Formats: sequence, C-alpha cells, structure tokens
Amino acid sequence: MPTRSALDALPTFHAHIAKWYAKCGRVELPWRNLARDGSQSYEVYISEIMLQQTQVSRVLEEFYFPFLRTFPTLTALAESSEQEVLRLWQGLGYYTRARNLRKCAQICVEKHGGALPRGVENLQKLPGIGSYSAGAISCFGFGESVGFVDANIRRVFSRLFALANPTHTELQNLATKLLDTNDSFSYNQALLDIGALVCKPKPLCLVCPIREFCQGSHAPQNYPQKVSKPRESLHLALFAIDFCESDISYIALTAPQQDSLSLDSPHSTHHTQLYAGLYNLPMIPTPLLKSHALNPLTLIGHYKHAYTKYNITTQLWHTRCTDESMARALLDSLLHNSSQYSAQKPIAFVPIHTLPTLPLSSLSHKALKILHANPML
Ligand code: ADE
Repeated sequence: MPTRSALDALPTFHAHIAKWYAKCGRVELPWRNLARDGSQSYEVYISEIMLQQTQVSRVLEEFYFPFLRTFPTLTALAESSEQEVLRLWQGLGYYTRARNLRKCAQICVEKHGGALPRGVENLQKLPGIGSYSAGAISCFGFGESVGFVDANIRRVFSRLFALANPTHTELQNLATKLLDTNDSFSYNQALLDIGALVCKPKPLCLVCPIREFCQGSHAPQNYPQKVSKPRESLHLALFAIDFCESDISYIALTAPQQDSLSLDSPHSTHHTQLYAGLYNLPMIPTPLLKSHALNPLTLIGHYKHAYTKYNITTQLWHTRCTDESMARALLDSLLHNSSQYSAQKPIAFVPIHTLPTLPLSSLSHKALKILHANPML
C-alpha cells in the first residue's frame, strides 16, 4: 500500500508530532523556556547561532550560560571587543559566527533601539542570520508562525518525501505547508528533536512518530543523497618559541587580524587564512620548512587535529631563546619567504601566564598541552 503523504493528513501528522514531543522532546532546554513575545529574543538568538554546527550538549554545558553571563544584552555585546567575544567562543569553531554576533548587536543598537527586529525579512538583513536562523528566532523568540529548514529538518523532510536532492526552495515550501500553525513553537522544536534523536543519519525508524507518512523509510540512507566531500589533508609545522625576561616567560604567537574576512566560515576555500580571528602558534605548511632554519629547534611531537574541512597533521617544534630579538630573528628565518600562514600575521610575544585570557585556537591549545606535558621542558 502506498504511504500516505503527510500533506494529505495534516491533523494526524501534527497530532503524532505533538504527542511525541510532550513525551520524548527536550522540553527542558533553557532556550525553550523563554518568553515568546520578543523580550527574550536575544537569548534565543544566541542559542540558535551557537547551535549551528554544534551539539546541544556542548552548547548547554560549556558555552550558552557563560556567554549570556558576560554579555547579558545586545547592548553589552555591542560594546564588547572582538577579542572578548572570540575568547568566549573559543572551542566552538566557525569563528565568523562570533564576529557576526558582535556586528549584528552593533547594528541592532544603531538601527533598532538595542533589540532584534521582528520578522524574518528584517532578521535576514543582519550579518550571520540566514533563512534558518531568521525563521527560528521569529518562531522561538517572537512567537511567529513560520516554518524553516536546518540540516536536521532537511534530513527529516527528504526522507518523509523520498527526495534525494531537494532544493532549499522545495524544502522551505514543505516547511511552510507542513507547519502546525496551532502550536508552531512546539512543532518546530519537535522537528529539530526528531532530526537529532530519531531521524539521525542512521535513523531509528521503529520509534519514529511519523513513520506512517515516511516515503523513504525503505531506504533512508538514500535520502538525502550525500554530497560530503572528503576532508582536505593539511600538514603544518607549529613553532613554540619562548624566552624568559625578568622572571616572566614569553611565547611567540601570531595575533588575530582585525576585521578579517569570513575566511574561517564552513564555506571557505582558502586555507592561507586558517584561524584568521584567533591567536596561534606561528605555523607554516610542512613542505615549506627550511631545514637550515630548524637547527636550534627540537621536534617535540606530532598530533592530528580536525578543523572545519581539514584533517591537519602537525609537527610541533620548540626552542627557548635567550631574548626577544633572538626569537624574532629565528621566526624571521623560519617564516621568511613563506607567503602563507604566519608570515602574513603580526607576531606578539605574550606572557605565558596570560594565555588563558586570550582567544587561542584549539590547534594551538593542543600544542601547548603537549609542550607542558613534556618532561624535558
Ligand atoms: N538546533 C538548532 N536549534 C535548536 C533548538 N532550538 N533546540 C535544539 N537543537 C537545536
């Protein structure tokens, strides 16, 4: 018997989803228990931006509350420095999101009286707010009846209608037609949960509340078709170069470039600006290492790190210099003529005890951990 389309049985479809959400949904999540009249749209906004590309548990346990404690309002965020925001974002990745949050807050202060504007169209004009975020903020923060599609909802709809390669417009039309306008808040949160907990890449069809409408359940792995590109391999040499002066230990870092373009976005194609917004150990691609310049350095170890679309394999080199000028000369010779990576960025000599206050990349964090664990140093 052909499967009944959800579009032909909306009341039943909605009822199944509502019942499942009441029983199995993550109704306790803090961003699901806020006012829906716009007065807490800022908190909703922060949660939605953090939840892009990031697991709920990480956002909940490590990032959401500290961020809101530090920047309780859009105005506080607008008055922050980019560095402060990046430091709180450290570890979440896709740092363009953090820079856009601050820019967006500044626009809201200048143009919208310190609040997020109402309406999907107005929200979408703000930096970092695409159609998904605009829909989610409208629905969850302003109580508006709008449908939207994120990666999880895309998977649910693709399977529900056996669509191998749906366009965004097709999916957005489905979101609008399928919306439960009687309780769009719970309906949309439920769809996000069904996508995250049931209709996962390896789905749990037996417990799915909407399986009777699913046209793709015979071969869920075919919907949507995967377009995943293999991660690019990147081989990097990182340099930990330190010295001591007046009892203070300093380490060389590349400083973030202010107003850097959105080059660490998930869609970026150019790797020379990897980690544009963060402090890092100086680094160059391993093939550009100059053996003569490496003379005073010791190879401490190797480690692997995955970042956005890269699988990075690193070599970690270390040396202790007598003073800053020696460190600078060494870095000059290591990075000289390497038009990539650190060569384009200013070097800062940072007291090691201040590292916890800086926005430092996870790649460099790992390196420093390895360095500190080395008994020879
Ligand atoms: N992912 C994106 N938005 C979400 C939300 N509101 N709750 C849980 N996961 C989400």
